[in-house]
Amino acid sequence: MRLTVFSAHRFEQPYLIQAAQGQHELHFVEAALGPATAAQARGSQAVALFTGDNASAAVLEQLHALGVRFVAVRAAGYDHVDLAAARRLGLRVANVPEYSPYAIAEHTIALILALNRRLHLADQQLRTYDFRLDQLIGFDLHGKTVGIIGCGRIGGIVARILHGFGCRLLGYDLVPDSRLGAELGIAYVALNELYAQADIITIHAPLTEHTRHLIDAKALAQMKPGVMLINTGRGGELDTLAALAALRSGQLGYLGLDVYEHEKGLFFEDHSHEAPPDATFAQLLAQPNVLITGHQAFLTREALTNIADTTVASLSCWGRGEASDTELQ
Ligand code: NAI
Repeated sequence: MRLTVFSAHRFEQPYLIQAAQGQHELHFVEAALGPATAAQARGSQAVALFTGDNASAAVLEQLHALGVRFVAVRAAGYDHVDLAAARRLGLRVANVPEYSPYAIAEHTIALILALNRRLHLADQQLRTYDFRLDQLIGFDLHGKTVGIIGCGRIGGIVARILHGFGCRLLGYDLVPDSRLGAELGIAYVALNELYAQADIITIHAPLTEHTRHLIDAKALAQMKPGVMLINTGRGGELDTLAALAALRSGQLGYLGLDVYEHEKGLFFEDHSHEAPPDATFAQLLAQPNVLITGHQAFLTREALTNIADTTVASLSCWGRGEASDTELQ
């Protein structure tokens, strides 16, 4: 099958080529999928999309008119794909539901540890041979209360790691997992209780109509003053302007992000030779208690191998006229 891979990053191409083993023809397009680039899928029966691609109804219609019948999302999150439109057009859509929840969970812990022990500031300081410690005081994680919003695959692993640190764990989930309660002593509570008690809050729920701006000014005001907030879920779950105001007032003590509300067109590309393209992002970067990574939580060799293998497995199933194991409809 011929596959057009949109948003084809250099870091992932070798993994996709290796997985395809010459059985599928891969056409790499560095640009993101959108109204202006969809035509580059001409001649392909399938497209592979990443998180920043535009898979709105209008763009899916363009793809369908070009003869595309299969959409493989190279990610777990598919909130950017209009599934209803895909269904209407008869497009089959698959994702990679689990490629390495460890990758994202471990990156979440990296953000918590780095922010707490101020590693980003310590590194900057040390490179100027300034070895003073006055600005670098952290806190013991042991005994602290961590609130986990969304205790699924990733949130569950975050809980297991933090249990090892001796943290007290609170969870909020639409479907509480009693095994996590029994195994780790995680207590499922209402959101307002989690906000009131947690020293650290970390978001691992998917972006849905219910979680868009879940953390807004009202939620931030209910949290403990100086709380640490981590978001490796989806940028839209946090109202960035509200977070910026809470950082300025001191209500928010630390902010660690791997995802950003307006990351489309910003992340995954080199903007180093341009004026800062996003004023809100620049204001976040100006805060010393903010640490941001550019949607790299998934970026481990194991995850890239699994993403490529699962994407190619979907293509192979579709090529044989079968349903993919990871089909969404
Ligand atoms: P999962 O489906 O295993 O877990 C999500 C959990 O959230 C489930 O337990 C579900 O019941 C819960 N949930 C759903 N709606 C909720 C709501 N309104 N309130 C509270 N809980 C709710 O998903 P997984 O694999 O743990 O991934 C979680 C999210 O992490 C993904 O949806 C994606 O947005 C994000 N992600 C980020 C990556 C990154 O590189 N930064 C990479 C992969 C995923």
